[in-house]
Amino acid sequence: MKIIDTVAGLRTTVARWRANGERIALVPTMGNLHTGHLQLVEQARENAHRVIVSIFVNPMQFSDLSGDGGDFERYPRTFDEDRKKLSAIDHPPDVIFSPAVQAMYPAGFQQETRIEVPEISNMLCGEYRPGHFVGVATVVAKLLNMAQPDVAVFGEKDFQQLRVIRRLVNDLCFPVEIIGVPTVREKNGLAMSSRNAYLSDEERQRAALLYQTLQQAKQQIQAGEKDFAMIQTQAIAKLSEAGFRPEYVEIRRTEDLQKATNADEHRVILVAAWLGEARLIDNIVVEKQE
Ligand code: PAJ
Repeated sequence: MKIIDTVAGLRTTVARWRANGERIALVPTMGNLHTGHLQLVEQARENAHRVIVSIFVNPMQFSDLSGDGGDFERYPRTFDEDRKKLSAIDHPPDVIFSPAVQAMYPAGFQQETRIEVPEISNMLCGEYRPGHFVGVATVVAKLLNMAQPDVAVFGEKDFQQLRVIRRLVNDLCFPVEIIGVPTVREKNGLAMSSRNAYLSDEERQRAALLYQTLQQAKQQIQAGEKDFAMIQTQAIAKLSEAGFRPEYVEIRRTEDLQKATNADEHRVILVAAWLGEARLIDNIVVEKQE
């Protein structure tokens, strides 16, 4: 497992693999790795000869591009533990790519070219975190250009992010296959996330309600409830009563994340809610039953 922190270094290594005709997978992360991330690495290994895991806490996606980076500063950085976790799995990645901010954004991220995937970036989480998906789209595009992978692996936990990335890759004709991996959960159903570190033990127990609420809403839809607005309102009320500060609970179409109706076949319920110091997101897919 080689650690590379320059773009030139990454390109040299990738060029050697390419010359041998090897298939390359990229797994972009911001570090503070948990079992969910390791699952992506495993999936990458099944799809390629070579695996690159990038660890980069991307300042561009934390701010509204005005330079306010409170959450960026406090994001957990645990490189040594991440390296140990990666080397301990059955098939460790070939490379950890961990560039400094300066290597990723030599001109400063506020000055650099940005990529905006319209519409889908500005709803749901994009509404509450203006500029967030511009930061995600830009850094993912840069990483894809740097690593030139055949496949790139992302988690379905960040459902909207995955949709943004699929659109970006399609619109800009990146020659890469995007693979989505189902959400890895704690025993109590809580989706694993680096941000769970901000929860107290008691909050971590209570946070299980997020997924339970999604499951209940799904059951309501499958039982034939057609009033989606009512389902959403009930879910928000339930979370609020339990001490969450919900941003949204929304039933949307999986394809474009526009509001879903009972006529749509592929739907997803998405939630974002604060609990204590942590902003948690989760989702559940609801296919129409025959
Ligand atoms: P990060 O939050 O570190 O997540 C890295 C990848 O792990 C993402 O694709 C995310 O969806 C996936 N992931 C996180 N928790 C997961 C879980 N419980 N189960 C399955 N997959 C999970 O997402 C980012 O970083 C950044 O926005 C990034 C794409 C790296 C761009 O900076």
